[in-house]
Amino acid sequence: MGDIETGAPLPTETHPYLATKNATMTNGNGTSNGEIAKKSYSPKDFLSDRAKVTQIDGIRGLMAHEHPGIVSFLYVLASAAFFSPRPLPAHPGQHVLAGRPNPTTFPFSSITLNLKSPLGESSSEKQDSITIETEDLDVALQYSPSPGLKKLVDWAVDFQSYAHNKKNDGSWTVSFGSGSQDLMSKAFNVLLNPGDPILIETPVYAGVIPPLRLLAAEMIEVDVDDKGLSAVNLERVLSSWPEGKKRPRVIYTSPIGSNPSGCSASRARKLEVLQVCKKYNVLIFEDDPYYYLATELIPSYFELETEVYPESGHVIRFDSFSKLLSAGLRLGFATGPKEITHAIDVVTAGANLHTSGVSQGVTLRLMQHWGIEGFLAHGRAVAKLYAERRAEFEAVAHKYLDGLATWVSPVAGMFLWLDLTPAGIEDSYDLIRHEALAKGVLGVPGMAFYPTGRKSPNVRLSFSVVDLEQDTELGFQRLAEAIQDKRKALGIV
Ligand SMILES: Cc1ncc(COP(=O)(O)O)c(C=O)c1O
Repeated sequence: MGDIETGAPLPTETHPYLATKNATMTNGNGTSNGEIAKKSYSPKDFLSDRAKVTQIDGIRGLMAHEHPGIVSFLYVLASAAFFSPRPLPAHPGQHVLAGRPNPTTFPFSSITLNLKSPLGESSSEKQDSITIETEDLDVALQYSPSPGLKKLVDWAVDFQSYAHNKKNDGSWTVSFGSGSQDLMSKAFNVLLNPGDPILIETPVYAGVIPPLRLLAAEMIEVDVDDKGLSAVNLERVLSSWPEGKKRPRVIYTSPIGSNPSGCSASRARKLEVLQVCKKYNVLIFEDDPYYYLATELIPSYFELETEVYPESGHVIRFDSFSKLLSAGLRLGFATGPKEITHAIDVVTAGANLHTSGVSQGVTLRLMQHWGIEGFLAHGRAVAKLYAERRAEFEAVAHKYLDGLATWVSPVAGMFLWLDLTPAGIEDSYDLIRHEALAKGVLGVPGMAFYPTGRKSPNVRLSFSVVDLEQDTELGFQRLAEAIQDKRKALGIV
C-alpha cells in the first residue's frame, strides 16, 4: 500500500508480489494457526491481503506533494489562478495537478446556517449562525483529500486526544467517512480476507451483517450479558478454538448504549475484554455512536488500551456525528493505527474519492464556533434529553410489562431490549408479525440482530422519537395485549 499522505513508494515488504506470497504463509496475524504473536507488534499485521496490495491511485498519491512552488504538468493544465475570483491560497502547484473543476463555475458564494438555541435552553432573541465563505468555502466545494479536509482532520485528532486522554504521538490518526457505517464497511474490507472468521458481540448492530456477508465472513457470535460484551464468553470462544482452523483477528463491539441490547460496558469490563484480546492477539473494532449519549462518560477501549498493552494500535474506533448533529450530514470518523486508517483511505479513494466536503465544511465551522467544550456541552445536553425520555418510556413499560418482560435499564443510547422469557415467549418474530401487528404496534424482533437468524425472545424498542404523551401508553398497552394473545395461542394461559 502506498502512503496516502506522503505518496511514498511501497515499502519492500509490502510490494504486491511479496505481500501476496507472505500472506499465504501465515494466518494473517503473522503467526501460524493457534499460536499467539511473539514477534514485535505492527498494526499492519491485521491488514487483509487485498489491503496490503492496494495502492492509492496515481493522482491522489501525488496530492500530498502539492507544495508552494511546485508546478506540475502531469495532469489538467488549466491554471485556476487565472480564473479564480479571489487571490489563490498557498499552493499554486495543486491547481495543475488533479482534474479539479474550475471553482468560478460553482454557483455558491457562501453557506450560512442559522443555529437553534442550545438544547434545553429557551429560545433567545439573538440567533447564532455560522457562515462558510472564502477559502474555507473553496475547499469545501472542491475535490479534497480522502482522509478528510485537513482542518477537520486536525480538529478531530486534537478532539480525540482530549476526549480519550490519548497522546498524539503520530502512531494513530483519523479518517472521515460518510457516516460510521461507510467507514466500518471499508474497515471490514481492509481487515478481513473473504471467508475469514470475525468475532461479533451478539445481539449485534444489524447494519454490520450485510457488509460482513458480502465478504463471506464467518461471524462468530459472542453473547453479551447485562454489561455488554462478556470477557468470559469471549475467553470461552477463543480458548476452545479448533486446532488448525484460522483464528479470528478482530472483534466487533458497540460498547455504549448498544444497539440493540441497550447495555453499556463499564471501565472494568472493558479492561477484562482487553486482557482477553491481548492474550489472543485480537483487534477491537469499537463502534461507538452512542458514546456521548451516556449519563456519564465511560472511558473508551481506545483510551484504555494503553493500560493493558505497552503500545497503542490495538483498537480501531468509530465515531459518528449522526446522533449529535444530524444523521443526514452522513459524517463519521474512524480513529486508530495509521496503518489501518490509511488502508481505509485507500478504499475511500477508490470508492467515492472523499466524503462530502460540504458536510465536512459545515461540521468544521460548527466545531470552530463551539470549540471542544461547546461540542461536549452539546453532547451532555443530548444525553440528558435521551435520559429523560428513557425514564418516561421505562415507567410506562413497567406499568404494562412487569411480569411479562425484563430488560436492562439503559444508561445510554436509545433502546430498550425486552426479554419476553417471563411471558413464556421464545420467538418474538411470530409475536411481532402476527399478534402485535394485528393490535397495531411494532418493535424489531430480536432475530434481526443475530446473523444466524436464531430464535430470540427479545424485541427492540426505540424511545428516541416516539410521542411520549400518547403513543407510548397506547403502544405498550397494545404490546401487552399482543403478548397475552400470543400466550393464549401457545396454550400458556
Ligand atoms: C451501533 C451503530 N453503529 C453505526 C451506526 C451507523 O451510524 P452512521 O449514521 O454514523 O453511519 C448506527 C446507526 O444507527 C448504529 O446504531
